Amino acid sequence: MKVTYYGHSCFLIEEAGAKILFDPFISPNELASGKVSADRVEADYILVTHGHEDHTADLVSIAERTGAKVVAAFEITTWLQGKGIENVHPMNLGGSVELPFGKVKYVAAVHSSVLPDGTYGGNPGGFVINFGDLCIYNAGDTALTLDMQLIGRAFDVDHAFLPVGDNFTMGADDAVIAAQYVKCKSVIGMHYDTFPYIEIDKNEAKAKFEDAGANLTLMEIGETIEL
Ligand code: NI
Ligand code: MN
Repeated sequence: MKVTYYGHSCFLIEEAGAKILFDPFISPNELASGKVSADRVEADYILVTHGHEDHTADLVSIAERTGAKVVAAFEITTWLQGKGIENVHPMNLGGSVELPFGKVKYVAAVHSSVLPDGTYGGNPGGFVINFGDLCIYNAGDTALTLDMQLIGRAFDVDHAFLPVGDNFTMGADDAVIAAQYVKCKSVIGMHYDTFPYIEIDKNEAKAKFEDAGANLTLMEIGETIEL
């Protein structure tokens, strides 16, 4: 699996012949300025965890330009249809869909969700993607919740994308516990440093995972890694 980081919670995953983009927020992100450009991001699928602007700022423009299929809560895909984006797949919590690259499940997140213009965004969530020989979990914005144990029971998660920025989501201490709940030792951190409220000490966060026998990867914006 190839992973490219566009900053905040925006990642591109390339696996099983598909380019899957998560939570496009690039053009308003000062940390991403000069490093990556929303105009050049490629995608076959765009998975959106919830409606907040820091997850959807570039959603409409990238969906329009690429024609990628947007997978998100029903309320978000309905909002997109109102903006002329027709290639969508609506979901709600607990549901799964078989897509050409693998099976996608929309799972619970403890957070809130409203779109940038104030439209209700439905329930916020995360995604488990089972590619067959590889399984990943993107928690979206969420607090630590015991529901994550259900993911650990049902799936063999290889890599978990977890928020570590604290304040609006869980911080590193709770993310360590979340990784234990989902039974995953490889964690890619997200939702940190973008705003003053969520600035973190990266070495301290990594040490917390190391102490728990897990690994926290914090990518550079624009960086691509193979996992
Ligand atoms: Ni949010
Ligand atoms: Mn957020």
